[in-house]
Amino acid sequence: MAAKVETKIKSSAYRSSRLSVAPMMDWTDRHCRYLHRLLSAQTLLYTEMVTAPALVRGGALHLLKHNPQEHPVALQLGGSDPDELAKAARLGAEAGYDEINLNCGCPSDRVQSGTFGAVLMREPTRVADCVRAMQEAVDVEVTVKCRIGVDEQEPHAVLPAFLEQISAAGCQRVTIHARKAWLQGLSPKENRDIPPLDYALVHRMKAAFPALHISINGGITSLAQAQEQLEAGLDGVMIGRAAYHQPTDILAAADAQIFGTGRIVDPTEVVQEMLPYVEAHLTEGGRLHQITRHMLGLFAGRPGARHWRRILSEGAVRDQAGPEVILQALDAIMSMPQVEQAV
Ligand SMILES: Cc1cc2nc3c(=O)[nH]c(=O)nc-3n(C[C@H](O)[C@H](O)[C@H](O)COP(=O)(O)O)c2cc1C
Repeated sequence: MAAKVETKIKSSAYRSSRLSVAPMMDWTDRHCRYLHRLLSAQTLLYTEMVTAPALVRGGALHLLKHNPQEHPVALQLGGSDPDELAKAARLGAEAGYDEINLNCGCPSDRVQSGTFGAVLMREPTRVADCVRAMQEAVDVEVTVKCRIGVDEQEPHAVLPAFLEQISAAGCQRVTIHARKAWLQGLSPKENRDIPPLDYALVHRMKAAFPALHISINGGITSLAQAQEQLEAGLDGVMIGRAAYHQPTDILAAADAQIFGTGRIVDPTEVVQEMLPYVEAHLTEGGRLHQITRHMLGLFAGRPGARHWRRILSEGAVRDQAGPEVILQALDAIMSMPQVEQAV
């Protein structure tokens, strides 16, 4: 066990978890992750949640497909049955994922009905059993993403008890979305905004569990805010919506500013680097907009951003649309007088 723990701690996913892009269903697919990787070589990337039953029954194996350039990349699983999760984790590790993460934070109805996600905050013993089974099944790190509680739960009491149990089961790294999930009456979208954030509680958890690697998530919208969280003692920061909508703001300077290696990346270079990837996808029968929909925010807040979005979103859905749409949108950006901006 000790040797296994040591291997896990040295993993690339562990080193990269100072900054991560959150798992986001329908958003962080492999095309999105490829784009994000071009913006930051270091930041840890997460897949969308894949449910363990779907993987184990074989229907969702295509969701494990990813590009070798995406590493370090973590697979997020949804589930609540230890055996099933162990099997799914093994499939993920065999497919090459650097980390397997268990979703204990997602509030959607579909997920509640299957007893996965945030409802598991009520069942720490079951979560610990799941973590233990997954750990035994794979050599890569097994991590958990959770909320601070659900519904009427008292986070000050339930969160430490939850962390205690998963740590005892061998989980050494956790990401805490610093708000409750209200399982009755709120949509998943509302559950990302309405329950109030409690960053102080997450910081107290770091003080109470100094050996546990804790990343904070929820409402962080700039690299400067991420840096503040790290300077205040947390081990990692996970960013979701801001990383998706303004990927350049969050990721282009991440290697230099958060990891202390590498340069600030120019988004126009990233567009050029996407072209061979796009060509390969089209050759395989894919559609342009499946990739370009993730690129709409690349120039957010910069001169020409509106033209970029419009040309890309209108052009990419046309029949036979190809890389020329991207080049046309890039021309619109390049022809704008660029003001000096800090990324
Ligand atoms: C479109 C969308 C889909 C999401 N899907 C997942 C998911 O599959 N698994 C998960 O753990 N969280 C999911 N989340 C929640 C995010 O991972 C993150 O916890 C949340 O957005 C708060 O972080 P943020 O304020 O930085 O966006 C999703 C969020 C969004 C916006």
